[in-house]
Amino acid sequence: PKIIAIVPAAGIGSRMQANKPKQYLKIHNKTILEHTLEQLLNYPHIDTIILAVAKNDPYLSTLTLLPHSKIQVVLGGDSRADSVYNALQNVDEKAWVLVHDAARPCITHQDLDKLIKITNPSGAILATPVIDTLKRSNLTQKIVQTEDRNQLWHALTPQFFPAKLLKQALQQAKNQGLEITDDASAIEQYGLQPLLIVGRSDNIKITRPEDLALAEFYLTQQHR
Ligand code: C5P
Repeated sequence: PKIIAIVPAAGIGSRMQANKPKQYLKIHNKTILEHTLEQLLNYPHIDTIILAVAKNDPYLSTLTLLPHSKIQVVLGGDSRADSVYNALQNVDEKAWVLVHDAARPCITHQDLDKLIKITNPSGAILATPVIDTLKRSNLTQKIVQTEDRNQLWHALTPQFFPAKLLKQALQQAKNQGLEITDDASAIEQYGLQPLLIVGRSDNIKITRPEDLALAEFYLTQQHR
């Protein structure tokens, strides 16, 4: 089936404490968003990229990549899930979608290959096993319990699903007023079980100021 990439890029990145949304900060003279888009554009198995941006995004016009025949720009929403949902309105229901955060520029073609190979009808996500010991706390920050990390994972993106399924799952999550921070959680709430595919740990989401230097290091290592 056709593979459509959806890139939610409508966030304001408040945790970055920067003067602009994090996807527009630069690494090696190129914005994070451009790094992400170029890596997806250079991947031969993606048919089209749908980019969800904030209303009246003043930085969009600085992207030298646009307009591009393979990139369609749509309006994002108030949450990441809304942004993905809006983008999905433009996707053929028979396609599969690869949803990838704008803020993860270090995605490799090797990881994309691993993900799009899967045949699970409920889809799959890239993830890394948890390496730290994880504690659950109560409201006064006292430790209640140590979690069994052998069954815990960090959810990354891309996440890969049949377009029709993700649309239905996000619609249901919306109707039920559920807070969703990734696409797989909508599928889970819908009663299905996406597969976890072990991804590379350098596929970080740029969130805090120190992540910028780390991403720059990884991109240099990847020779891009
Ligand atoms: O805030 P967080 O790091 O979880 O955002 C993940 C991705 O979702 C980012 O690429 C961000 O731009 C995007 N997003 C969005 N629409 C929103 C909020 C976040 O597309 N309303």
